[in-house]
Amino acid sequence: MSPRPIIAPSLLAADFARLGEEVRAVQAAGADWLHIDVMDGHFVPNITLGPDIVKALKPHATVPMDVHLMIAPVDPFLEAFIEAGADIVSVHPESGPHLNRTLKRIRQLGARAGVVFNPSTSPSVIEWMMDEVDLILVMSINPGFGGQTFMHSQLAKIEALRRMIDASGRDIVLEVDGGVTPETARLCVDAGATALVAGTAVFRGGPDAYAANIAALRG
Ligand code: DX5
Ligand code: ZN
Repeated sequence: MSPRPIIAPSLLAADFARLGEEVRAVQAAGADWLHIDVMDGHFVPNITLGPDIVKALKPHATVPMDVHLMIAPVDPFLEAFIEAGADIVSVHPESGPHLNRTLKRIRQLGARAGVVFNPSTSPSVIEWMMDEVDLILVMSINPGFGGQTFMHSQLAKIEALRRMIDASGRDIVLEVDGGVTPETARLCVDAGATALVAGTAVFRGGPDAYAANIAALRG
């Protein structure tokens, strides 16, 4: 029996004209975390939101804010996002020259530190840094857009990272992001995931559907 996964709705699929209401609705529907996708139009081919939006949403947040930074260079912006209220900050190894230094800096600034794996990124990136990591985020799509199809090729990577985490003996969250539906959620949890990001699968159908959508992801 796998433990109940953390469900982190991605606000990318929310109504951006009513973000505060959307945050409250999704929390009332059972969200464990809020997943916030930050894109710069350079590291990924899309632009979303910045630290001012995180700051504006913070008073509405009763659960941790899980901030996924898809920006390069990432280091100059860590402080702004953590001051704005990010509780967990995840970075791509490709978004700066010194991943170890970046992770240490995130913790120094008072947040939990995460590493994000693109579909092409190897688990070996963190082999010598398990002590610096609080969360591992496996992308099951290429980052940049919601609504894409889950890449089953990433399940073996989730299993490999599960083994690395277990061998480390450390309490590291293993999160999956992209194309998560009730069906693919099961595959991720069976592969060892403990947290699931979902945009489309949570926000489809509007606020009246959020609680059932989240329950369906929990299985
Ligand atoms: C994409 C983002 C994801 C995205 C997931 O780069 O990191 O968080 O919002 O959206 P769905 O669940 O629709 O695939
Ligand atoms: Zn994300």
